[in-house]
Amino acid sequence: MQIIHPLADMTRWSEDVLFRGETIALVPTMGYFHEGHLSLMRLAGRLADHVVVSLFVNSIQFAPGEDLDQYPRDLENDTRLAANEKVDVLFVPSDSEMYENGGATRVRVEGITAVLCGRQRPSHFEGVTTVVAKLFNITKPHFAVFGEKDFQQLAVIRRMTRDLNWNIDIVGHPIVRESDGLAMSSRNAYLSGEERQSACCLYRAIEQARASFAAGVRDAARLQVEVRDTLLANPDVSIDYIALVDQHSLAEREEADAGTVLALAVRVGTTRLIDNGFLADDTEKSN
Ligand code: PAJ
Repeated sequence: MQIIHPLADMTRWSEDVLFRGETIALVPTMGYFHEGHLSLMRLAGRLADHVVVSLFVNSIQFAPGEDLDQYPRDLENDTRLAANEKVDVLFVPSDSEMYENGGATRVRVEGITAVLCGRQRPSHFEGVTTVVAKLFNITKPHFAVFGEKDFQQLAVIRRMTRDLNWNIDIVGHPIVRESDGLAMSSRNAYLSGEERQSACCLYRAIEQARASFAAGVRDAARLQVEVRDTLLANPDVSIDYIALVDQHSLAEREEADAGTVLALAVRVGTTRLIDNGFLADDTEKSN
Protein backbone atom coordinates (compact mmCIF):
# COMPACT_ATOMS: atom_id res chain seq x y z
CA MET A 1 0.00 0.00 0.00
CA GLN A 2 1.29 3.42 -0.95
CA ILE A 3 0.73 6.54 1.13
CA ILE A 4 0.25 9.61 -1.04
CA HIS A 5 0.14 13.17 0.32
CA PRO A 6 0.42 15.63 -2.64
CA LEU A 7 -2.78 16.15 -4.64
CA ALA A 8 -0.92 16.13 -7.95
CA ASP A 9 0.70 12.73 -7.15
CA MET A 10 -2.71 11.30 -6.33
CA THR A 11 -4.21 12.49 -9.62
CA ARG A 12 -1.20 11.19 -11.57
CA TRP A 13 -1.60 7.77 -9.95
CA SER A 14 -5.31 7.68 -10.89
CA GLU A 15 -4.63 8.82 -14.45
CA ASP A 16 -2.13 5.93 -14.85
CA VAL A 17 -4.81 3.48 -13.70
CA LEU A 18 -7.39 4.98 -16.08
CA PHE A 19 -4.88 4.87 -18.93
CA ARG A 20 -4.50 1.12 -18.39
CA GLY A 21 -8.31 0.74 -18.60
CA GLU A 22 -8.60 -0.35 -14.96
CA THR A 23 -11.12 0.80 -12.34
CA ILE A 24 -10.88 2.68 -9.02
CA ALA A 25 -13.12 2.56 -5.95
CA LEU A 26 -12.77 5.43 -3.45
CA VAL A 27 -13.57 5.22 0.26
CA PRO A 28 -13.61 8.73 1.78
CA THR A 29 -12.92 8.79 5.55
CA MET A 30 -11.79 11.02 8.39
CA GLY A 31 -9.69 8.20 9.87
CA TYR A 32 -9.59 6.55 13.31
CA PHE A 33 -10.61 3.37 11.56
CA HIS A 34 -13.00 0.83 13.04
CA GLU A 35 -14.66 -2.26 11.58
CA GLY A 36 -17.22 -0.04 9.77
CA HIS A 37 -14.48 1.70 7.76
CA LEU A 38 -12.70 -1.61 7.10
CA SER A 39 -15.93 -3.18 5.79
CA LEU A 40 -16.28 -0.28 3.33
CA MET A 41 -12.71 -0.94 2.14
CA ARG A 42 -13.50 -4.64 1.62
CA LEU A 43 -16.62 -3.79 -0.39
CA ALA A 44 -14.56 -1.34 -2.48
CA GLY A 45 -12.08 -4.17 -3.17
CA ARG A 46 -14.89 -6.31 -4.57
CA LEU A 47 -16.12 -3.50 -6.83
CA ALA A 48 -12.98 -2.29 -8.59
CA ASP A 49 -9.44 -3.22 -9.60
CA HIS A 50 -7.94 -0.64 -7.21
CA VAL A 51 -8.96 0.85 -3.87
CA VAL A 52 -8.12 4.38 -2.75
CA VAL A 53 -8.92 5.32 0.84
CA SER A 54 -8.78 9.02 1.63
CA LEU A 55 -8.05 10.10 5.20
CA PHE A 56 -8.72 13.77 5.82
CA VAL A 57 -10.29 15.39 8.87
CA ASN A 58 -12.28 17.94 6.95
CA SER A 59 -12.25 21.16 8.98
CA ILE A 60 -14.99 22.87 6.94
CA GLN A 61 -17.67 20.32 7.87
CA PHE A 62 -17.24 21.18 11.58
CA ALA A 63 -18.97 24.32 12.88
CA PRO A 64 -17.20 26.54 15.44
CA GLY A 65 -17.62 24.89 18.86
CA GLU A 66 -17.93 21.37 17.40
CA ASP A 67 -15.32 18.65 18.01
CA LEU A 68 -12.73 19.39 15.27
CA ASP A 69 -9.88 19.80 17.78
CA GLN A 70 -10.78 16.70 19.80
CA TYR A 71 -11.59 14.54 16.76
CA PRO A 72 -9.64 11.29 17.38
CA ARG A 73 -6.58 10.74 15.17
CA ASP A 74 -4.12 7.85 14.94
CA LEU A 75 -2.40 7.82 11.55
CA GLU A 76 0.05 5.08 12.54
CA ASN A 77 -2.66 2.62 13.54
CA ASP A 78 -4.87 3.62 10.57
CA THR A 79 -1.98 2.94 8.20
CA ARG A 80 -1.50 -0.51 9.72
CA LEU A 81 -5.23 -1.33 9.50
CA ALA A 82 -5.60 -0.14 5.89
CA ALA A 83 -2.44 -2.01 4.85
CA ASN A 84 -4.08 -5.24 6.08
CA GLU A 85 -6.94 -4.69 3.61
CA LYS A 86 -6.80 -4.72 -0.17
CA VAL A 87 -6.02 -0.99 -0.28
CA ASP A 88 -3.69 0.33 -2.99
CA VAL A 89 -3.41 3.93 -1.81
CA LEU A 90 -3.99 5.69 1.48
CA PHE A 91 -4.45 9.29 0.34
CA VAL A 92 -3.66 11.73 3.16
CA PRO A 93 -3.86 15.28 1.78
CA SER A 94 -2.79 18.29 3.86
CA ASP A 95 -5.22 20.93 5.00
CA SER A 96 -3.18 23.68 3.34
CA GLU A 97 -3.25 21.97 -0.05
CA MET A 98 -6.95 21.03 0.11
CA TYR A 99 -8.01 24.52 1.17
CA GLU A 100 -5.50 27.00 -0.21
CA ASN A 101 -6.22 30.26 1.60
CA GLY A 102 -9.36 28.65 3.01
CA GLY A 103 -10.72 27.76 -0.44
CA ALA A 104 -13.26 30.18 -1.91
CA THR A 105 -15.59 27.62 -3.54
CA ARG A 106 -18.33 25.60 -1.85
CA VAL A 107 -20.61 22.90 -3.28
CA ARG A 108 -24.10 23.11 -1.81
CA VAL A 109 -27.03 20.72 -2.26
CA GLU A 110 -30.39 22.36 -1.57
CA GLY A 111 -33.49 20.86 0.03
CA ILE A 112 -32.51 17.54 1.55
CA THR A 113 -29.67 19.24 3.48
CA ALA A 114 -32.13 21.47 5.36
CA VAL A 115 -33.73 18.67 7.39
CA LEU A 116 -32.56 16.18 10.07
CA CYS A 117 -28.85 16.77 10.81
CA GLY A 118 -28.82 19.81 8.49
CA ARG A 119 -31.29 21.62 10.74
CA GLN A 120 -28.93 21.45 13.75
CA ARG A 121 -25.71 21.71 11.72
CA PRO A 122 -26.54 24.14 8.87
CA SER A 123 -23.02 24.38 7.36
CA HIS A 124 -22.13 20.71 7.86
CA PHE A 125 -23.33 19.21 4.58
CA GLU A 126 -21.84 22.03 2.53
CA GLY A 127 -18.48 21.06 4.04
CA VAL A 128 -19.09 17.38 3.24
CA THR A 129 -20.21 17.93 -0.36
CA THR A 130 -17.34 20.35 -1.02
CA VAL A 131 -14.68 17.91 0.19
CA VAL A 132 -16.27 14.89 -1.50
CA ALA A 133 -16.51 16.81 -4.79
CA LYS A 134 -12.82 17.66 -4.50
CA LEU A 135 -11.90 14.05 -3.65
CA PHE A 136 -13.86 12.84 -6.69
CA ASN A 137 -12.01 15.29 -8.94
CA ILE A 138 -8.60 14.42 -7.50
CA THR A 139 -8.95 10.61 -7.36
CA LYS A 140 -11.24 10.07 -10.42
CA PRO A 141 -13.08 7.00 -9.09
CA HIS A 142 -15.59 4.77 -10.90
CA PHE A 143 -17.14 3.80 -7.56
CA ALA A 144 -17.35 5.58 -4.21
CA VAL A 145 -18.42 3.71 -1.08
CA PHE A 146 -20.27 5.35 1.83
CA GLY A 147 -21.87 3.92 4.98
CA GLU A 148 -25.62 3.87 5.52
CA LYS A 149 -24.92 4.93 9.11
CA ASP A 150 -24.70 8.48 7.73
CA PHE A 151 -27.94 7.97 5.90
CA GLN A 152 -28.57 11.63 5.08
CA GLN A 153 -24.95 12.11 3.95
CA LEU A 154 -25.36 9.19 1.52
CA ALA A 155 -28.60 10.67 0.12
CA VAL A 156 -26.95 14.11 -0.27
CA ILE A 157 -23.92 12.66 -2.07
CA ARG A 158 -26.15 10.64 -4.41
CA ARG A 159 -28.05 13.81 -5.23
CA MET A 160 -24.87 15.84 -5.81
CA THR A 161 -23.42 13.13 -8.05
CA ARG A 162 -26.57 13.08 -10.19
CA ASP A 163 -26.87 16.85 -10.32
CA LEU A 164 -23.22 17.35 -11.31
CA ASN A 165 -23.35 14.54 -13.91
CA TRP A 166 -20.43 12.55 -12.52
CA ASN A 167 -20.27 9.05 -13.89
CA ILE A 168 -19.52 7.61 -10.45
CA ASP A 169 -21.45 4.73 -8.94
CA ILE A 170 -22.30 5.67 -5.32
CA VAL A 171 -22.49 2.46 -3.32
CA GLY A 172 -23.98 2.23 0.19
CA HIS A 173 -22.77 -0.22 2.82
CA PRO A 174 -25.03 -1.43 5.67
CA ILE A 175 -24.38 -0.17 9.21
CA VAL A 176 -21.73 -2.16 11.07
CA ARG A 177 -22.60 -2.57 14.76
CA GLU A 178 -21.00 -3.64 18.04
CA SER A 179 -22.37 -6.85 19.58
CA ASP A 180 -24.90 -4.88 21.69
CA GLY A 181 -26.17 -3.04 18.60
CA LEU A 182 -24.33 0.29 18.98
CA ALA A 183 -23.39 1.56 15.51
CA MET A 184 -19.61 1.78 15.24
CA SER A 185 -18.33 5.35 15.12
CA SER A 186 -15.01 7.11 15.66
CA ARG A 187 -16.94 9.34 18.10
CA ASN A 188 -17.77 6.37 20.37
CA ALA A 189 -14.23 6.93 21.72
CA TYR A 190 -15.62 9.99 23.55
CA LEU A 191 -18.02 7.92 25.69
CA SER A 192 -17.33 7.14 29.35
CA GLY A 193 -18.14 3.61 30.62
CA GLU A 194 -21.58 4.61 31.83
CA GLU A 195 -22.36 6.60 28.68
CA ARG A 196 -21.31 3.62 26.57
CA GLN A 197 -24.00 1.59 28.38
CA SER A 198 -26.62 4.25 27.65
CA ALA A 199 -25.53 4.55 24.00
CA CYS A 200 -26.99 1.22 22.95
CA CYS A 201 -30.46 2.74 23.55
CA LEU A 202 -30.42 4.07 19.95
CA TYR A 203 -30.43 0.58 18.50
CA ARG A 204 -32.84 -0.66 21.16
CA ALA A 205 -35.24 2.14 20.17
CA ILE A 206 -34.97 1.18 16.48
CA GLU A 207 -35.66 -2.48 17.32
CA GLN A 208 -38.60 -1.48 19.44
CA ALA A 209 -40.08 0.71 16.68
CA ARG A 210 -39.66 -2.22 14.28
CA ALA A 211 -41.59 -4.46 16.68
CA SER A 212 -44.42 -1.90 16.91
CA PHE A 213 -44.46 -1.52 13.11
CA ALA A 214 -44.60 -5.32 12.74
CA ALA A 215 -47.50 -5.35 15.22
CA GLY A 216 -49.39 -2.94 12.93
CA VAL A 217 -48.64 0.53 14.35
CA ARG A 218 -48.35 3.04 11.46
CA ASP A 219 -49.03 6.36 13.16
CA ALA A 220 -45.71 8.26 13.12
CA ALA A 221 -46.56 10.39 16.16
CA ARG A 222 -47.25 7.29 18.24
CA LEU A 223 -44.07 5.56 17.08
CA GLN A 224 -42.06 8.69 17.90
CA VAL A 225 -43.46 8.82 21.45
CA GLU A 226 -42.51 5.16 21.99
CA VAL A 227 -39.00 5.81 20.69
CA ARG A 228 -38.63 8.92 22.85
CA ASP A 229 -39.68 7.00 25.98
CA THR A 230 -37.18 4.21 25.23
CA LEU A 231 -34.35 6.71 24.70
CA LEU A 232 -35.10 8.89 27.71
CA ALA A 233 -35.26 5.88 30.06
CA ASN A 234 -31.42 5.99 29.98
CA PRO A 235 -29.21 8.30 32.05
CA ASP A 236 -27.43 11.22 30.31
CA VAL A 237 -29.52 10.95 27.12
CA SER A 238 -31.06 13.97 25.40
CA ILE A 239 -32.71 14.02 22.00
CA ASP A 240 -31.71 16.10 18.97
CA TYR A 241 -34.33 14.55 16.70
CA ILE A 242 -36.50 11.49 16.17
CA ALA A 243 -37.77 11.46 12.58
CA LEU A 244 -39.71 9.08 10.39
CA VAL A 245 -38.80 9.94 6.83
CA ASP A 246 -39.08 8.70 3.27
CA GLN A 247 -35.84 6.95 2.31
CA HIS A 248 -35.33 9.04 -0.87
CA SER A 249 -36.87 12.50 -0.31
CA LEU A 250 -36.19 12.52 3.47
CA ALA A 251 -39.67 14.08 3.81
CA GLU A 252 -41.36 13.42 7.17
CA ARG A 253 -44.11 10.78 7.12
CA GLU A 254 -47.32 10.92 9.14
CA GLU A 255 -48.08 7.29 8.35
CA ALA A 256 -45.16 4.87 8.27
CA ASP A 257 -44.76 2.32 5.49
CA ALA A 258 -42.12 -0.17 4.31
CA GLY A 259 -39.99 2.62 2.78
CA THR A 260 -39.95 4.66 6.00
CA VAL A 261 -36.65 5.15 7.81
CA LEU A 262 -36.44 5.95 11.50
CA ALA A 263 -33.57 8.42 11.89
CA LEU A 264 -32.22 9.34 15.31
CA ALA A 265 -29.76 11.92 16.62
CA VAL A 266 -29.15 11.74 20.35
CA ARG A 267 -26.69 13.22 22.79
CA VAL A 268 -25.23 10.88 25.37
CA GLY A 269 -23.51 13.24 27.78
CA THR A 270 -21.93 15.71 25.36
CA THR A 271 -21.36 13.18 22.54
CA ARG A 272 -23.72 13.37 19.58
CA LEU A 273 -24.60 9.97 18.10
CA ILE A 274 -26.73 9.15 15.06
CA ASP A 275 -28.36 5.93 13.93
CA ASN A 276 -31.13 4.84 11.58
CA GLY A 277 -33.01 1.87 10.24
CA PHE A 278 -35.98 0.86 8.15
CA LEU A 279 -39.11 0.12 10.16
CA ALA A 280 -39.75 -2.92 7.99
CA ASP A 281 -36.74 -5.05 8.87
CA ASP A 282 -36.49 -6.68 5.46
CA THR A 283 -36.61 -3.52 3.29
CA GLU A 284 -33.63 -3.23 0.95
CA LYS A 285 -32.22 0.27 0.61
CA SER A 286 -32.18 1.34 -3.02
CA ASN A 287 -30.54 4.15 -5.01
P1 PAJ B 1 -16.19 9.13 8.66
O1 PAJ B 1 -17.06 9.48 9.81
O2 PAJ B 1 -14.75 8.78 8.91
O3 PAJ B 1 -16.86 7.93 7.90
C1 PAJ B 1 -16.30 7.44 6.71
C2 PAJ B 1 -17.29 6.49 6.08
O4 PAJ B 1 -17.50 5.38 6.95
C3 PAJ B 1 -18.67 7.14 5.86
O5 PAJ B 1 -19.18 6.75 4.59
C4 PAJ B 1 -19.50 6.57 7.00
O6 PAJ B 1 -20.89 6.49 6.71
C5 PAJ B 1 -18.88 5.17 7.11
N1 PAJ B 1 -19.17 4.59 8.44
C6 PAJ B 1 -18.87 5.10 9.64
N2 PAJ B 1 -19.32 4.28 10.62
C7 PAJ B 1 -19.93 3.25 10.01
C8 PAJ B 1 -20.60 2.07 10.48
N3 PAJ B 1 -20.75 1.80 11.76
N4 PAJ B 1 -21.10 1.22 9.55
C9 PAJ B 1 -20.97 1.48 8.22
N5 PAJ B 1 -20.35 2.56 7.73
C10 PAJ B 1 -19.83 3.43 8.61
O7 PAJ B 1 -18.37 10.35 7.00
C11 PAJ B 1 -17.28 10.90 7.01
O8 PAJ B 1 -16.15 10.35 7.60
C12 PAJ B 1 -17.03 12.25 6.34
O9 PAJ B 1 -18.21 13.02 6.42
C13 PAJ B 1 -16.55 12.14 4.88
C14 PAJ B 1 -17.60 11.47 3.98
C15 PAJ B 1 -15.22 11.40 4.81
C16 PAJ B 1 -16.31 13.58 4.31
O10 PAJ B 1 -15.39 14.26 5.08
